[in-house]
Amino acid sequence: MAIISLINRKGGVGKSTISINLAAGLATRESRKPSSKPVLLIDMDDQLSATITAMGGGFGQQFVPVITAEPSFAGALGGGLGGSESLLIESLLPRNRSEKVRVFKTNKTKMEGLEDSLKSMPESAFQLLYFLEPIKDKFSYIIIDNPPSAGMIPMNALVASTHVLIPIEPDGLSLIGLADILRMIENVQKNTNPDLKILGIIPSRFRMVRRQSRDVIEDMEKLYGHLLLPYVKDLADISAATTAGYDVFSYCRQKSQPYRCFSNLVDAVLGKLQ
Ligand SMILES: Nc1ncnc2c1ncn2[C@@H]1O[C@H](COP(=O)(O)OP(=O)(O)OP(=O)(O)O)[C@@H](O)[C@H]1O
Ligand SMILES: [Mg+2]
Repeated sequence: MAIISLINRKGGVGKSTISINLAAGLATRESRKPSSKPVLLIDMDDQLSATITAMGGGFGQQFVPVITAEPSFAGALGGGLGGSESLLIESLLPRNRSEKVRVFKTNKTKMEGLEDSLKSMPESAFQLLYFLEPIKDKFSYIIIDNPPSAGMIPMNALVASTHVLIPIEPDGLSLIGLADILRMIENVQKNTNPDLKILGIIPSRFRMVRRQSRDVIEDMEKLYGHLLLPYVKDLADISAATTAGYDVFSYCRQKSQPYRCFSNLVDAVLGKLQ
């Protein structure tokens, strides 16, 4: 069992896209095992983009009951209540498999207040850890998508996680941002979760044609080579799949670039977890 947080305080770097496809890819690999457990995808961001994709995407409105639910994950977590199995539902992903990724029924309004509710609670950084304690062993992997922040929400995710993945869009300032995130992780390791491991850095939305992107990747290789995972290219079909409520494994052909990028990533993550 691994609990994997995707963290970057910068917005739009591909945290949610990678969370969704990693969850779908891991669920597919897991379902081939004789005694398999489901994958859980937790959406800690009040934009709820991972939940919306997992529940059918932005073209329909099938996701609405799931993001306006009462009671909800956001209400239970922000109210200090324990993990509740009744809040779990099957998502639609992977689209081409019967063993679906689980998500929580959630509530957008309550999610918007979660950062403040957590801050007002005693042991504010430990609430997600306590919430997951009674249910975590039912899952093979738990993937936690985080908002673009370095506040109490990602802090809860890091305290509850066994591993962290850092998607980085390789541009001029991303190495400075990366140093900040690594410092945040180091603090959590020192003060609250000594077992937290950095699973890797994922160069995300990578554009090979850009000189600057190639230079940043070169620098990353020098500085953090041992942590670099296969990169995810910037490809229109990756974005199209997400908007349509699909994982790339169901949306794209097996020989396509999006499929291969994410397949390599899932392989590398599984290799590192062993
Ligand atoms: N590899 C990719 N190729 C093409 N488009 C991508 C890729 N990854 C992400 N995108 C698109 O970029 C936008 C931002 O991606 P995503 O929502 O995954 O980032 P994020 O880090 O979760 O953002 P936020 O910080 O706002 O939560 C989305 O429109 C998504 O479809
Ligand atoms: Mg996101």
